Amino acid sequence: AKPVKIALLGCGTVGTEVVRLLGEQAADLTARVGAPLELVGVAVRRPGRTRDTGIDPGLFTSDAMGLVQRDDVDVVIEVVGGIEPARTWLLEALKRGKGVVTANKALLAEDGAALHDAAAEAGADLFYEASVAGAIPLLRPLRESLHGDRVTRITGIVNGTTNFILSAMDATGASFTEALEEATALGYAEADPTADVEGFDAAAKAAILASLGFHSRVTAADVYREGITEVTATDVASAKGMGSTIKLLCIAERTGDAVTVRVHPAMIPRTHPLASVGDAFNAVFVEAEAAGQLMFYGRGAGGAPTASAVLGDLVAVARNRLSGARAPSESAYAKLTARPIGEV
Ligand code: NDP
Ligand code: HSE
Repeated sequence: AKPVKIALLGCGTVGTEVVRLLGEQAADLTARVGAPLELVGVAVRRPGRTRDTGIDPGLFTSDAMGLVQRDDVDVVIEVVGGIEPARTWLLEALKRGKGVVTANKALLAEDGAALHDAAAEAGADLFYEASVAGAIPLLRPLRESLHGDRVTRITGIVNGTTNFILSAMDATGASFTEALEEATALGYAEADPTADVEGFDAAAKAAILASLGFHSRVTAADVYREGITEVTATDVASAKGMGSTIKLLCIAERTGDAVTVRVHPAMIPRTHPLASVGDAFNAVFVEAEAAGQLMFYGRGAGGAPTASAVLGDLVAVARNRLSGARAPSESAYAKLTARPIGEV
């Protein structure tokens, strides 16, 4: 079969791992998709920079839009981040009927509805499993497996950086600044770590979870948000003295016709399952009327875990292109059964 041609936008922490997995697993991916996956271009800010990716340096360009507009490109993977210019690139890709895979929670939480509308209009696939909770398969279950049920509550730890910082402060008494530096060096933090420590990243993820879980339109602006910058070493030690620990929680609830979504630090007893979630791991509980409580746990940040989710989406999009199938249409945004509390 003809190769499925891929444009990669971004080759930083996540993009580098996407390239590595595409190379290392080429034979398996070809077998799974039914055609080879061919990387035809990589857009970065600094194309002349030496990179240890093992791919032809001639594939690098700073012209992301030029790549998106190439007629031969079937799938666009966006791992740049931020609202613009990512939104313009992805809307253009979808308008042209290309499949889109993105890890960009900030964009999804701000303008997910416009992206879904563009995808629906063009009959194109839009996948973003990597945008929430890194490697953990969470959005697919919400988008597909739980569609016969009614989700009532989603609770959990969805930011790896802040969990890494709070866990280090609790375990070793590390300072906030030291722990943040380490999380950044490990590739967990956002390009601007303010997004992590002030709770914006978790709020964006909470908005995506609430939108998919409750078939609603929740944006980051609808989420009550408090970060961890006010959490001191004394707070952590006091919580410890009381047999508890501090975690940054995301809590999304559906009550009747309304949805409330919030992100804030909370003291939880050490006996609670979320208390043992350490390092940059994430854990999310989903409660649904018929299913009861489900728990999703795994690596929530880092290049390789995130690339795993990106590749999973890529295989799904590539298969759909070959078979002419499409992802389940986005009932999340098509059907409003709940509203953010701010609009009630
Ligand atoms: P990085 O900052 O490591 O990489 C960003 C990449 O985008 C770089 O290659 C950069 O180029 C490129 N870039 C930036 N601006 C432009 C531009 N204007 N045109 C073309 N290329 C550009 O980010 P991450 O890999 O950490 O994150 C990427 C995305 O994945 C973000 O949306 C993030 O939120 C998300 N994500 C990240 C996770 C993580 O653990 N890191 C986990 C889950 C999601 P250059 O290399 O030249 O600087
Ligand atoms: N900065 C994010 C985090 C990356 O720490 O969770 C994963 O989305």
